[in-house]
Amino acid sequence: MTPAPSPQLLRAAEAVLRGNDRGGYTLPSADLYPFQWNWDSAFIALGWAACDESRAWRELETLFAAQWPDGMVPHIVFHGRAGRYFPGPEVWRTEREPPTSGITQPPVAASCVRWIFERARDRTLAEAAVKRLLPKLFAWHRWFHRLRDPERLGVVHIVHPWESGMDNSPAFDAPLAAVPVEDLEPYERRDLEHVPPEQRPTRLEYDRYLALLRVFRDCGWRAREVVRQSPFLVADVGVNMILHRADRDLLALAREFGAREMVAALEEWMATGRQGMERCLRDPETGFYHPRDARRGLRLAASTHAAFLAFWAGIGDDLLARRLERWLAATRFGLSSVAADDPAFDPDRYWRGPVWAITNFMIAQGLEEYGRSDLARRLRADTRVLIQRSGFREYFHPQDGRGLGGRAFSWTAAVLLAEQAG
Ligand code: DGY
Repeated sequence: MTPAPSPQLLRAAEAVLRGNDRGGYTLPSADLYPFQWNWDSAFIALGWAACDESRAWRELETLFAAQWPDGMVPHIVFHGRAGRYFPGPEVWRTEREPPTSGITQPPVAASCVRWIFERARDRTLAEAAVKRLLPKLFAWHRWFHRLRDPERLGVVHIVHPWESGMDNSPAFDAPLAAVPVEDLEPYERRDLEHVPPEQRPTRLEYDRYLALLRVFRDCGWRAREVVRQSPFLVADVGVNMILHRADRDLLALAREFGAREMVAALEEWMATGRQGMERCLRDPETGFYHPRDARRGLRLAASTHAAFLAFWAGIGDDLLARRLERWLAATRFGLSSVAADDPAFDPDRYWRGPVWAITNFMIAQGLEEYGRSDLARRLRADTRVLIQRSGFREYFHPQDGRGLGGRAFSWTAAVLLAEQAG
């Protein structure tokens, strides 16, 4: 049994959030990501809720204040002039105020809003905040279902690996390889000033990330045009699982607040989403979920830990639980983002092997709900031990437990606080 985090560790977690707080929004990490990031903020709000509820609501409201008129919530909000980051607003050129990127990120916010709402001690504050956030969350989900499912398959698509939040996951190797990179303007990466190159995406991956950005900029950031023109169009497993759970959580909130037109739409999206994932992402033989490359019209072979988010989505089963046990048995610390026996496994490199506190958090919560508290306990214990040994790092080596990527990382601190608070 792993002991619960010490009061000292919890105080250190809170200090990470306070250190990264810029008044209304929290940096994921001060040197590597010096602005507000979409899904980071949603997880960070869970951490704030454990120590300062009004600050938690403010985090989410600041994020949603940058929502686009069509409903999209951008993946980066460039508040102020803080920090050196590439690609900054001068590259995105989305002409928004405050400046934002032009793509989105996994829609985990509705699930975080429900989590905070159900545990809120200040009910008046919580009800007022949810009332304000509900239509904005709904508009974002509608944007996904309407504009990112062009073939009406019941699954939503991303146009850029950054939208998955799991940038260099092997899930994207094949579809990204088809992105042309000719005539790219010279550029200078900033991430490598803070993190060793072997822990980050490669140069070629970055070239492709930027080539995609250029295509979308040339589309004037018009949502339908971006989907039409993007050489990269993937139904990502993680984004679909996260959206499915978020639809369910938003549905619960919409019912509670008597928002009837939202209820009807959300019920429909939940039904089509479930069928879509079953038909397009699930391998009927193994029961495992894989991404679908819409440009080539095929399900890809890549296998990543995103499939275990099926538990978070409420559609996990025993077959998946057995596979999860095998992944866990192959590394000292779980859950590796890629299985240790997969040729793509690279235990130092970002989303190609390391352990992440936020995916452990979601998968553990889902396993608990599925009735596998034994596996949930194992994931939560591993997160705690990794943080105790190596600090609030961005990700961790699944074999030796070394801390990797950014330091004083907000969402790592936030999920520790959230789990402790229950
Ligand atoms: C980065 O800069 O690496 C981010 O993941 C992009 O959002």
